Amino acid sequence: MATETRSLPELLREHGQEHLLTHLDGLDGATRERLCARLRTIDWDELARPEVAPEVGEVGASRVVTLAERQQREERLSAAGEAALREGRVAVLMVAGGQGTRLGFAGPKGCYPLAPHSGKTLYQLQAEKVLALSRRVGQAVPFLVMTSPVTDVRTRAAFAEHDRFGLAAGQLRVFRQGTLPSVDRAGRALLGAPGTLLESPDGHGGCFTALVESGELHRLERAGIRHVVYIQVDNVLAPLDDPAFVGLGVEERADVVTKVLEKTHPDEKVGHLVRVAGRDRIVEYTELTAEDTRMRAPDGSLVYRWGSPALHLWSVAFLARLASKGFRPPLHRSAKPLRAWLDGALREIDGWKYERFIFDLLPQARVCIGLEIDRASEFSPIKNAEGENSPATAVEGMSRQYASWLEAAGVEVELSPGARIEIDPLLAATRRELVERWDGRVERVTGDLHLQEDRRVSGAPDRERGEP
Ligand code: UTP
Repeated sequence: MATETRSLPELLREHGQEHLLTHLDGLDGATRERLCARLRTIDWDELARPEVAPEVGEVGASRVVTLAERQQREERLSAAGEAALREGRVAVLMVAGGQGTRLGFAGPKGCYPLAPHSGKTLYQLQAEKVLALSRRVGQAVPFLVMTSPVTDVRTRAAFAEHDRFGLAAGQLRVFRQGTLPSVDRAGRALLGAPGTLLESPDGHGGCFTALVESGELHRLERAGIRHVVYIQVDNVLAPLDDPAFVGLGVEERADVVTKVLEKTHPDEKVGHLVRVAGRDRIVEYTELTAEDTRMRAPDGSLVYRWGSPALHLWSVAFLARLASKGFRPPLHRSAKPLRAWLDGALREIDGWKYERFIFDLLPQARVCIGLEIDRASEFSPIKNAEGENSPATAVEGMSRQYASWLEAAGVEVELSPGARIEIDPLLAATRRELVERWDGRVERVTGDLHLQEDRRVSGAPDRERGEP
């Protein structure tokens, strides 16, 4: 880490960044001061030594509670989780600082109007799930939203314009993650504009450092919160009301419970939960060869069997322990095309971007448990504008899920191709809620349908029984 005893020119020279000094000369006082201040806070040593992918030769299976085991333990786990929820021991953390490059939407991904009938944004859908959970358990469940310099202003505005989508004042807490400079292939920092470094958000792993530095982690500890449910804004199906998930953390005194899904085929592009050299970790597909991903254990099962949908439960005590050790998730570097200010113009160059990954907390855990989920009901991320993992597949995923809830409530569902069902989270945010609250307002569904909290039905259900 840089020490204050060195002058800025010394510091930059020592790290091969002296080209920035020439640039400083041409700047006005305030801009120069701002840039100098930023250059002093960057950990240049860390940038020069990004994480090397771990040797994955010695790979074994992590402990995973399968769907069958969960079913057997459901009652006990749900009771433990429900108690934690009702005592106000649980918070939700949603990361929403990404650049959403692949989606290409003009604005934060959270502002994407996804819901097929109401046009609700991802922010509204996720916030209403928090509100639904809060109402059910009689606690204003804290909702922490991490933004980045790329998404912060518009995110705050989106929540402010809609009165926090019904959440109580103080329940919503927006905090901002940090950034990391991008460098050229020779490791030299770049400018995004005159007087400004080219930087990008420091990855979803930046949420650990941001939680600590913003004081939010302390605040959670002081409020007696023991578990944090972590979701990513772009997974519209991410369930927040899952008592057995929380209960597993409680019962097993787990530092981390991380949800996993059975891969559809060995080459599926996901991170994998495995145990490497006695530590649980998520190994990205990019770190593996095709032979690795197809490797089988002696019992015939895939070694890289469990994919990660980025749904975690963190124990606050674990996060606090890491914070007190001064832990920071390591940096990962990836080759990217960059737009940098070079020789008086913006130019495309090949360079490196740095990020921290939230799953790098796993190897620090004493107790880490995987919990198998049914993919179709919990995971439908929005990454691309079209094709797989796009808004279209997310809407299909929602419709399929809602159709199955309606069937569980006794409604006959025979959807015509392309029909889209939307159920407001405040009417029901889980299958159980829909079944418990079902008022029989429709008997049969064949086409578009929007069910709202106040008994309104729109779309084209085959036959309605409810009030208009
Ligand atoms: P992705 O890694 O899929 O990135 O983020 P992205 O920004 O959404 O999309 P691309 O890769 O630029 O196309 C997964 C989740 O992590 C959050 C995102 O907002 C998303 O919820 N994230 C990612 C952050 O909060 N901060 C980051 O720096 C990166």
